[in-house]
Amino acid sequence: MSLTKKNFYKIFAKQGITLPCFFYGSVDSTNTRAKELTKKGLDGGAVIAARQTKGRGRYDRSFLSKRGKGVYLSFVGQARENFAALSALSALAVLGAVKQIYDIECKIKWPNDVIYQGKKLCGILPESVAAGDTRYVIVGVGVNVNYTEVDFGALAGKAVSIRQITGKNSCVLTLAAQLVKNLQTVFSRFDGEEQILIEEFRASCDTIGKTIVFERGGATVTGKAVGIDESCALLVEREGRTEKIAWGEISVRPAG
Ligand code: BTN
Repeated sequence: MSLTKKNFYKIFAKQGITLPCFFYGSVDSTNTRAKELTKKGLDGGAVIAARQTKGRGRYDRSFLSKRGKGVYLSFVGQARENFAALSALSALAVLGAVKQIYDIECKIKWPNDVIYQGKKLCGILPESVAAGDTRYVIVGVGVNVNYTEVDFGALAGKAVSIRQITGKNSCVLTLAAQLVKNLQTVFSRFDGEEQILIEEFRASCDTIGKTIVFERGGATVTGKAVGIDESCALLVEREGRTEKIAWGEISVRPAG
């Protein structure tokens, strides 16, 4: 199905989505646009684009955002306490959507990368913005859908797409609609069911049991990931002690 506004509204209506959702043929970054709309009064919703000209990743990296090749979506909800946990748990919405639509089982690389057989299928950029007295969280989700090895360029080998797994192109709008629904569910379950969500997260987290490399006090150190605590922080055993990483970048050391 072609990436037009008309098709977007058709699919979203068919999926029963009543949340305010905005579709753009091209934007700099859906997270940036979602922030602008929130500052102008959007009280929860989603921004979706066919392509991004300045797609942003974590730590000021750029995010590959070719037209029709991926889902580029920013979900806006009210920020609760424990922003880091909500940001990590959003990965469950992606895991659920790819299982529901394509029957693909993915895992989470802590804190919130969605991976398939060790390669990255989806990245999530959480940000927050204040409007009046309310603080909102923007969950920016980028899923590789129709990318080929050639499209990935330098990322080939580290990234994977739905197309590479299933062998065929898929409709990015259908996946976007399912993601919006699942993100709504994660946000609403976060009130009252946070610990159940964290249990689901633990069960899907591929990082536990692995040797990881991370930054501590300006140095690069190694430890063993041993668990996820009740605030979704990563527990790491290092030098005979258990340390907590609340949020941040880690890399997993290959086995062997
Ligand atoms: C990462 O893996 O570093 C996070 C990538 C997040 C990319 C998404 S695409 C939709 C939203 N808009 C952006 O500019 N970034 C996020």
